[in-house]
Amino acid sequence: MPIIYDEKKRTFKLDTATSSYIIKIYEENYLLNLYYGAPIPETYISGRECRQRNASFSLANSVIGERAFTPDTAPMEYGCNGAADFRISALAVRNINGDSVTDIRYVDHKIYAGKPGIPGQPSSYVNNESEADTLEIYAEDAVTGVRVTLYYTVFSSCGVMTRRVRVENTSSFCCDIERVFSLCVDLPTMDYDFISLYGLHYKERYVERRPLAHGLQGIESKRGVSGHCQNPFVALAEHNADERHGTVYGFNLVYSGNFSALAECDFNHSTRLIMGINPVDFGWRLAPGEYFDSPEAVMVFTEGGIGEMSRIFHRFYNTNLIRGRWKNQKRPLLINSWEAAFFDFDTEKLVDFAKTAKQLGIEMLVMDDGWFGRRNNDTCSLGDWFVNEEKLPGGLVPLIEQVNKEGLKFGIWYEPEMISPDSELFRKHPDWHVHVAGREPMIGRHQYVLDVSREDVRDNIWQQMYKVLSENKIDYVKWDFNRNISDAGSALLPADRKKEFFHRFILGTYDLMNRLVTTFPDILFENCSGGGGRFDPAMLCYSPQIWTSDNTDPIERLYIQFGTSMCYPASTMGAHVSANRRTGYETKGNVAMWGTFGYELDPRKLTEQEVEIVKEQVRRYHEYYDLIHYGDLYRLISPFDNPYRAAWQIVSQEKDCFMLTLVTMRSELYPNIIVKLQGLDPKKQYRNETTGDICSGALLMNAGLVLNNVASRTGESCVIYFTEA
Ligand code: DGJ
Repeated sequence: MPIIYDEKKRTFKLDTATSSYIIKIYEENYLLNLYYGAPIPETYISGRECRQRNASFSLANSVIGERAFTPDTAPMEYGCNGAADFRISALAVRNINGDSVTDIRYVDHKIYAGKPGIPGQPSSYVNNESEADTLEIYAEDAVTGVRVTLYYTVFSSCGVMTRRVRVENTSSFCCDIERVFSLCVDLPTMDYDFISLYGLHYKERYVERRPLAHGLQGIESKRGVSGHCQNPFVALAEHNADERHGTVYGFNLVYSGNFSALAECDFNHSTRLIMGINPVDFGWRLAPGEYFDSPEAVMVFTEGGIGEMSRIFHRFYNTNLIRGRWKNQKRPLLINSWEAAFFDFDTEKLVDFAKTAKQLGIEMLVMDDGWFGRRNNDTCSLGDWFVNEEKLPGGLVPLIEQVNKEGLKFGIWYEPEMISPDSELFRKHPDWHVHVAGREPMIGRHQYVLDVSREDVRDNIWQQMYKVLSENKIDYVKWDFNRNISDAGSALLPADRKKEFFHRFILGTYDLMNRLVTTFPDILFENCSGGGGRFDPAMLCYSPQIWTSDNTDPIERLYIQFGTSMCYPASTMGAHVSANRRTGYETKGNVAMWGTFGYELDPRKLTEQEVEIVKEQVRRYHEYYDLIHYGDLYRLISPFDNPYRAAWQIVSQEKDCFMLTLVTMRSELYPNIIVKLQGLDPKKQYRNETTGDICSGALLMNAGLVLNNVASRTGESCVIYFTEA
């Protein structure tokens, strides 16, 4: 059984294929974490309850005894505020008396097969009940009546656990949640590196690794979205852990709003990590009987190194997070109008794109920004989601008919959570944008954020979208979001609930997205936020693919895609070949092939030679689609570690074929490149489809491949396919 309750020891044991996790109901019903690590058979480990070492100012519960136990040095399962645990707390609830002391103790529990969803929020799911088991632990603060449910779901075969909490007010007075994190993990040492993904627009998700130090360290977003600057992903890796070896804990928050992931190392050299909604500018009022659900956090533990952590996340997201028709169905190869035309297009030009694209084998035309209102540049019309008939005479029907006649599907762009001050919508509803009293809100890209925390606002946008999507044959929607949220407030929220705004905004976004995917289940939905500014697991619950970055330079994309692949699979990474870059089409295609492949250029401007390259890329896209989307990724040479080149490998689940890509970022005069492959069956024989050579998986993994004479000049690259001989 993946979840066991040992009645004698009063412990819960949660097992996955790669980890064990033990929770203890201690004296006075304190909930402690005794273990999270590699699988062990025991349901209890003695001597883990107390970590006190000369902590002279730590406080004790008099009943349990000062030397034996103090919350400040105990491995708390869910550390709360103000009751003698002085580390960063996962929960603080202000009660009717005005204090925020929160002290929860075990009351009861329930174990069952399957996994419940979270009302109104995205989360991972089970395909059938036998795939996962769930433990609910109920804990209560006897003084304030705050009741907490700690949810743990164990996906035992794939090395994943998910966690979240529900906070309920069982008292007869209102209370206010000041902070509520989705997970809290207390580890007995601090011998880890903290790995996170930082960046900005055009440079998303660069990998950063630093040793933990005493005190607080962490990452956050206060931008209203998960954002370009930090991703809601953190790993703790042993100092010597690398792609292939070592202990790694990976954490990813299924949330698209303000988040925080903090690690604190204390005087005992132990580590507490918490991850959840950012408490800055957050608060939530609970009336008697009401509850609040935190977002879900995904936890992975492996001894197989950072590479194996990534593969566990990838398999899990492909199987238990992404959903809907396009989860397993081959997605159409698209061409997007943005970099080809920006705002300068009309029906004729788009039909021309479609005609030329068809000859290349492209399957869908996406009309990006600029089709609605009076949108001829980015200064106006967001919120006016009706067709600009000056550009598209007769509306979308004649355009789509002609595109379909060429055999291409048709996609469209939206930015539903935005409003231009110069729009009909704004003139009609000058209080529908996000703002606070007495301040002119900051403007970004000439636009305000629309207050989608309000139902009336959402209904209006939804009705406009519904009209276009139901009256036209639209196969794809790109959902964009092109600024961060400042001056955060909603005209409808009273002063004592203003801190609820950011979370309500994200719930509103989820609601709109949910309406889209449930009303139009056949539409393929791609998320985007000024490139990859909202690349998080929550968005993957609605859109199986996300535009990874506006930066399509293949060399710069190496860093972005290596970083993104830390936890997100290739099937989710929108990656397009575009024009106007220094590097040749071969390399553009080889890099973009590691993702949901497409084009972002004027196909009429391709030279004859480029046309042939593109046709070959399209052929390969179809041939290797399953391998790329559902194979296992091995990052062989990281651009973050090697100034000259990057290499990666994608191996089929059956290990009967794989592809190896090598990109030279900077040439060397005397290269000596031996690449050791990974993840193969050592006993199988593999044929190199380029040279015809046959050799064993053992040789390829142990002796490696010499690659001195391929793709050795700056900007060159090669892809070598291998199949079982
Ligand atoms: C930002 C996106 O990342 C681009 O791909 C494009 O859709 C523009 N917005 C359109 O305004």
